[in-house]
Amino acid sequence: MSNLKISDRFVKPFLNQSNFTSELERAENARQTLLNRTGLGNEFLGWVDLPNQIKSEDLQSIRKAAETIQSHSQYLVVVGIGGSYLGARAVIEALTPEFSSPETQKKSVKILYAGHHLDADYHFRLLAFLEGKEFSVNVISKSGTTTEPAIAFRLLLSLLERKYGKDNIKNRVFATTDKSKGALKHLADEYGFPTFIIPDDVGGRYSVFTPVGLLPIAAAGFSINKLIDGAKQMESELKSTTSQGGNLACLYAAIRNSLYTLGKTTEIFVSYNPSLSYLTEWWKQLFGESEGKNGKGIYPASVQFTTDLHSMGQYIQDGERKLMETVIKIETPKQDVYLTEKTNDNDGLNYLAEKKLSEVNQSAILGTLIAHKDGGVPCLEFTLPAINEEILGELMYFYEFACAISGYMLGVNPFDQPGVEDYKNNMFALLGKKGYEKKKDEILSHLGSI
Ligand code: PA5
Repeated sequence: MSNLKISDRFVKPFLNQSNFTSELERAENARQTLLNRTGLGNEFLGWVDLPNQIKSEDLQSIRKAAETIQSHSQYLVVVGIGGSYLGARAVIEALTPEFSSPETQKKSVKILYAGHHLDADYHFRLLAFLEGKEFSVNVISKSGTTTEPAIAFRLLLSLLERKYGKDNIKNRVFATTDKSKGALKHLADEYGFPTFIIPDDVGGRYSVFTPVGLLPIAAAGFSINKLIDGAKQMESELKSTTSQGGNLACLYAAIRNSLYTLGKTTEIFVSYNPSLSYLTEWWKQLFGESEGKNGKGIYPASVQFTTDLHSMGQYIQDGERKLMETVIKIETPKQDVYLTEKTNDNDGLNYLAEKKLSEVNQSAILGTLIAHKDGGVPCLEFTLPAINEEILGELMYFYEFACAISGYMLGVNPFDQPGVEDYKNNMFALLGKKGYEKKKDEILSHLGSI
């Protein structure tokens, strides 16, 4: 049994039972389509069997590379964007304590990120910061041609060459890319950098259980074996359980599609744990890029409570009624804090004396769930016992599987992203890239007419 529990008690009042029953049937059909590989984009289904098929020698070579990095580097710069970056960051941020002592820091490599945007100040400061530090780079790009990481890697490679000498960086650069094609693969071969392969049949946002996610996670000091164990558990459960038998991915997909037909066009991922903020970013990419096609798709949004109850709470309670929520609740914190009694009670908090902070948080969660449900927002609850590698592995595989099912139910290909090309073509034309001359003329005349 997986650790994830889903409760629909604050969704049921909104659902039309017969519509929901038929959505559950459609979810089961979509599950069969996925498992039989008969749906759209079925050339990108390598991720479905990945956790149970990963070879122990592959995990071993990832761990070995991580140990090499840890042996000589204080920092690992992970260079990538979108699916080539968010999965690793989601896990690393979820597991890294916000405040760590110098002793803890000494043991693990601190992960920095680059190539996930084009901000000049950030990259200037990163390069200046790394000047006097021992560092390595893991450059990740399936296509090997994506502009943002390619630029960041060029900058970092120049720094590495200047700092250590071209012949001394073979154990400091690790490339994760396609087995044969793309500029990154050719560059890695030319320099002799160790290379990890992204399987052809695994797309970026479904790649966290490949070296794309695993190498940075291992270098950060977390157990990739436990992460994979969790994913394996969820893979087995979702493959063997039917929708009618309680398949959680089908339940989630059926609920969100059922609510979508009732006009709930935005799903808000709600978490009460700041450490999950990048998990929400990963989730937004997974669902946004997979479902937002052909004028359709639930818009994936996120908030961090209770922080955002003081910013977005008003809109959620009372604004346009197009929202649904999925709330992630963590049952037990790693460490708890007790409130004590004060003799003068001058802050008025003695009514909380002897309560744990986690109890206060649980009351905030329940109070908010009731308020939002009363305000017309269906709230689905996901409960997890804790945050650790195994549970994150379960949860991330769950989301991948549910996203594929939900995309099929919506009638889109959940594994492509044709819309992402449009901004790139305009940017290349504006920058004068060869082959984009006609596009540049079109853009200039378009700009002239507005
Ligand atoms: O999910 C996806 O496919 C995308 O988000 C890609 O991961 C992203 O565009 C980066 O692509 P690449 O790995 O080819 O650099």
